[in-house]
This record gives sequence, C-alpha cells and structure tokens, in this order.
Amino acid sequence: MAVATDIAARTVSVFAVVALLSLTLVSSNSEGDALYALRKSLSDPGNVLESWDPTLVNPCTWFHITCNQDNRVTRVDLGNSKLSGHLVPDIGRLEHLQYLELYKNNIQGTIPTEFGNLKSLISLDLYNNNISGVIPPALGKLKSLVFLRLNDNHLTGQIPRELVEISSLKVVDVSNNDLCGTIPTTGPFEHIPLNNFENNPRLEGPELQGLASYDTNC
Ligand SMILES: *[C@@H]1O[C@H](CO)[C@@H](O)[C@H](O)[C@H]1NC(C)=O
Repeated sequence: MAVATDIAARTVSVFAVVALLSLTLVSSNSEGDALYALRKSLSDPGNVLESWDPTLVNPCTWFHITCNQDNRVTRVDLGNSKLSGHLVPDIGRLEHLQYLELYKNNIQGTIPTEFGNLKSLISLDLYNNNISGVIPPALGKLKSLVFLRLNDNHLTGQIPRELVEISSLKVVDVSNNDLCGTIPTTGPFEHIPLNNFENNPRLEGPELQGLASYDTNC
C-alpha cells in the first residue's frame, strides 16, 4: 500500500514537472508568437510561411528566419515573396532583430509605431510595397539603423526630423512616395543623394528650405 502511494506521489510530481516545463517552453516562445501574428496578418499565396509552426519551442528552424546563439531572432528575410496584407505591431517585440527584409511584396496599411522598439535593427527594407500612412517619428529611436529603404510605396506626411539623430544611418531611400515638407539636410542626411527623395511631388528640395512652405504644403 505504502509502495503504491509512493508511486502515485512520484507520478504526480513527474507530471507536475513536465507540465511546468512545457509551460515554460510555451511562454518562452514570445518571438515565435510575434512572428506568427505577422503570418496570420499576411496573405501568402506562394506558401513561403508554411514552416512557421507556432507549436515549436522557438521560430529558429522556420524558413526565412535567422536566430543568434541564444535562439533570438536576428533576421526576417521575406523579400520578393508575393505577400500581401498588413504589418503587425507585435514585430516590435523582436528586440534582437537586425534585418527586417520585406521588400518587393504587396504589403499594405501603415508602418506600426512599435517598429521604433526594434533597438537592434540595422536594416529596415520595406521598399516596393503598397504601404501608406506616415513614416513613424518613433523610428528615430532606432540607434543602430544603417539602411532605411521605404521607396516605392504610398507614404504621406513629412520626413520625421527625429531621423536626423540616427548617426549610424548611411542609406535612406524614400523616393516614389507621396511625402511632403522639406528634405532634412543635417546629420546623416548630409550624405544622402537627392535621387533618393525624388518622385514625391510635394517634397521640396533643401534649396527651398526657409522659403515658407515647410508646413503649408503638408
Ligand atoms: C494598395 O492598397 C490600397 C489600400 O490602401 C488598395 O485599395 C489597393 O487595391 C492596393 N493596391 C494593390 C495593387 O494591391
């Protein structure tokens, strides 16, 4: 009888440990959850997101995802993948993400303000999509950013002045949008060629700055 009770007790404690362990594993997959939220928000006729299985312990074996040695997501490579649908704020939780490559798709909607929380981001490549709304001023918080390519979309509003504070910024391309106001000239913008601002009918060149219309045409 005592033996039976002992076995029962052990069984219960083993079960409890397994339950606790699986709970820990599930809760540690918040990066997978963030990416899965993106999958659910996108239409994927080419099935490039088929391997994105949220029941795995982390997203590091998913196609188009790269992780570091600590199993934290560092790259999302989904350029040229026939994706449509919307971006999701959840992506802002990928705090080790360095490369967000979503160029040449048909993504619509706005750039979530939460992308400003991607503190490790080096490259934000959203060019050649159907993205509208403003460039979030919160992107000025991306202190590691080198590449900001938002060209060939339908972005409106001004180029946020917050971006001039990003000293790492080397490449900015916002051509072929519907931006307005004036082109920044200070900080990293000193070295960005004017071509990278072209085809924004209401965006004014730096030679016109100070000539009144900075706010009025926006
Ligand atoms: C682009 O997005 C708008 C909505 O913002 C939509 O009406 C339009 O059909 C989209 N264009 C394409 C080519 O999908």
